[in-house]
Order: sequence, then structure tokens, then C-alpha cells
Amino acid sequence: MQTTYELPSNLQETLDALPKGLFDHIQRVRELAVGLAGVHKLDVVRVDFAAAAHDIARAEPEHVLLAEAQATGIPVTNVDADKPMLLHGPVGAGRLRNKLAVTDEEILEAVYWHTTALSTMGPIAKAVFLADKMDLSKASRYPHIGRVRELAADDLDQAIVEFLKGDLVRLLEEGKMAHPASLEALNGLLYSLKRSR
Ligand SMILES: [Fe+2]
Repeated sequence: MQTTYELPSNLQETLDALPKGLFDHIQRVRELAVGLAGVHKLDVVRVDFAAAAHDIARAEPEHVLLAEAQATGIPVTNVDADKPMLLHGPVGAGRLRNKLAVTDEEILEAVYWHTTALSTMGPIAKAVFLADKMDLSKASRYPHIGRVRELAADDLDQAIVEFLKGDLVRLLEEGKMAHPASLEALNGLLYSLKRSR
């Protein structure tokens, strides 16, 4: 069974230049995302593209991410300023748009929000967000991921809510900051799930 698709040469070359561990993570996320796309009847080729592109800026040093975010008008919250690696999604989306000529807004939003989530993101972004978290190499960081994986087979929103609840509790218990976009995503998804009942 085909699990990933051919990418435009400029994106493939960008991926080929990444460190091996990151390249391998991206390949696993592509397969997980394409699996979710199949289950939820999404456009598998666009989901695969977004998953392939999600971490193109992940190998950059934090000072580069912060400087590029500031130079390109990406909003930098206190949480991002404290941990600039959180900006690799927004910076990656900016590079896709400006350097790789990607114009598909659903792909760009998937890359932009893949770390924090956002309540208004579309199904492609939801699949990429979950696939990234479901990568087994992150299992020790996310002890509640088993339940998230089960829910993801049924309902992407429920799965994201489950993930965010567990992750926000963990962050707060460890005395760390919670990203405002993750809180917004949790509230927004809980609100729409409540209204759809
Ligand atoms: Fe990432």
C-alpha cells in the first residue's frame, strides 16, 4: 500500500538536507498522517505534503527562529520568546510560502499550527497535528498518547482535546508556561463539541 507521495523537488531537496533523526521523524509522521487522512476521507496527497513540510524549520537554532519570526511579522508571545523552538511551525510556514512558493492555505496553516494547535484549523492541520504527536519517538513525552491514538481513529477533534488536556496539565504541573494558542484550541474545540451534542 502506498503511504507517501512524490513531493515537488524543492521540498524534497529541503527534506534531504535535514538531520537524519528529523528526516526519519518526518517520514513516520507522513505515514501516520496519510493513515488518518484515509480514515477521515481527507485529501491524502495534500495531507502528505503538509506532513512532509511540517518540520522544515525544526533544525534551526533558536536565535535564527526568533530573528526570522521578528523579521517576517510573526507574532511572538511571551511563551515563544521564552522557548523560541515553538516558532519552528510559523517560521516553516513562512519559508514554504516565501521560498518554496506554496500557496495552499490549508497546508500552510497545518505547518504553522502543528506544535500548538488552533481551534479554527481545518482537517488537514488536525491530521498533521495529531500525527506529529502520535510518532512513537515522542511516546515517553506524552504518556496519554494511547488514548489520543484511539480517539483519532474516530474523531479528530476529540483526539486533539484529549491531547491538549493531558499536555496542558503536564506543563502546568511542571511549572512551565502553556501556549495561548493551545488554550484557545482547547476552549474552542470544547465549545464546538458541546454545541454539536
Ligand atoms: Fe515540529
